[in-house]
Amino acid sequence: MNEADALVVVKRALKPQRFSHTERVVETATQLADKYGGAKDVIRLAAILHDYAKHRPLEEMKNSVQANGTIPDDVLLYGDELLHAFVGAHYVKEELGVKDEAVLSAICWHTTGRENMTIEDKIVFLADFIEPGRTFEAAEKVRITAAQDLDKACLECLIHTICYLTNKGVPVYPETFKAYNDFALKISSMEGER
Ligand SMILES: [Fe+2]
Ligand SMILES: [Fe+2]
Repeated sequence: MNEADALVVVKRALKPQRFSHTERVVETATQLADKYGGAKDVIRLAAILHDYAKHRPLEEMKNSVQANGTIPDDVLLYGDELLHAFVGAHYVKEELGVKDEAVLSAICWHTTGRENMTIEDKIVFLADFIEPGRTFEAAEKVRITAAQDLDKACLECLIHTICYLTNKGVPVYPETFKAYNDFALKISSMEGER
């Protein structure tokens, strides 16, 4: 599926505000790819499609998780917000015929993060958090870091997400902690070498 076709599909699938957010994520992801590298075609297609399932009925998404052997069942335990990412990757593959695992991965992990994120995963994850429509304080802060260091910016995103969820006393998807440790270990060992 090319970008133009993906945009047509996504415009139909999303409410106008969500489509505008998607356009800003694509723009931000492109800027990050210009700066940090990664496969730009993968990054842009994943950014266009990242919220494809956002407005699907919750029950439908839950049934899709149960019916599909490849989506981990445990996503159902960690709140509804992360479902659209996992199910979205599955729908993009099955309904739109996108087979590129790099695109599907960036869509799947755009909300939770994961251990060993690829550069394409990181850029879509970060772009979703810092696109210019995100005006909360943490986004402003991460935007500044993202201009300097991709991994540190991802770590700040994860810290914000973990603090936000733990302050509310709700569960945190285990991959989010794994992603946090992955970045924190890497960054602290690099700083130790200086
Ligand atoms: Fe999303
Ligand atoms: Fe998004």
